[in-house]
Amino acid sequence: MNAIEIKNLSKSFRAMYAVDHLNMTVPVGAIYGFIGENGSGKSTTMKLICGHLVPDSGNIRLFGKDYTDPGVRVRVGALIENAGCFPGSSVYQNLMMQCINLGLSDPDTEIHRVLKIVRMEDNANLKFKRCSLGMKQRIGIAMALLGDPALLILDEPINGLDTDGMRIMREILLDITQKYGCTVLISSHILGELEKIATHYGIIRQGKMIMEISAEEMDARAQVFVSLKTRDMANAQAVLAKKYADVRRDGEYIRVYDVNDTAEVVDTLMKNGHIVSELRKNKIGLAEYYVELMSQKEGV
Ligand SMILES: Nc1ncnc2c1ncn2[C@@H]1O[C@H](COP(=O)(O)OP(=O)(O)O)[C@@H](O)[C@H]1O
Ligand SMILES: [Mg+2]
Repeated sequence: MNAIEIKNLSKSFRAMYAVDHLNMTVPVGAIYGFIGENGSGKSTTMKLICGHLVPDSGNIRLFGKDYTDPGVRVRVGALIENAGCFPGSSVYQNLMMQCINLGLSDPDTEIHRVLKIVRMEDNANLKFKRCSLGMKQRIGIAMALLGDPALLILDEPINGLDTDGMRIMREILLDITQKYGCTVLISSHILGELEKIATHYGIIRQGKMIMEISAEEMDARAQVFVSLKTRDMANAQAVLAKKYADVRRDGEYIRVYDVNDTAEVVDTLMKNGHIVSELRKNKIGLAEYYVELMSQKEGV
């Protein structure tokens, strides 16, 4: 079953499409990385899913039901833009207000449950305004987790976090999916960070979904290449180009794509009188793949 299934979804503002006939499929249990530049339509898509905006046309299904179904709405938790907390109230009080808002029956237990998930059990009494950016993002997630949702929608929760904040966020998201069986839709333009956690990717550009791919497929598609240095780069490149289909110059390095046997590359160069001074085996990461994909689409 899919947690989210969107067909042909459109939303325009002043005759401009913010979301343009978008299709999206998020399987249950996924951490779906929703990637796109600023203004590409990520927040608008999320607001549509949450029912904060009314679509012009199209279809949204959550867990097999229409997204307006009341039974399904209570299973969605979201953090879009900011958590809307009162700065002068404590973390606990802010969560309590949201519990009351949601009509939860045992708010104290629920608050401790979500604070534990976001690793903030010890900060319940801290005033919201005293919290660091990383803590505020985590409080936002705690808010969204109240009521034990099956689908969590997080709009750029990694934005502006330092390395440590990102690591904690990653651990939290893995916990939420693996321990609590929640599906997560998370948007970002920081590709490197999503690469470590996402099980699926959707790439949006100018309101259109230009690619949906699982991390597994992405991995299979990611090209392996060897980058190396020799003294006579021009000749070495010519030698390699005779044997390998895709040899490119990349600054101070030569890149040989789709190589399984690194030793063979070295051997070929040695036989032609070259000494390899540096050699590395690499894989095109998501960030590089994304840049390439964007530049391909640019001219269309
Ligand atoms: N309430 C609104 N009124 C007018 N234009 C909007 C509104 N919300 C979003 N937009 C426009 O829709 C486009 C997509 O915005 P958004 O969904 O916020 O993108 P993202 O979240 O990917 O940065 C942008 O061009 C933005 O200016
Ligand atoms: Mg946005």
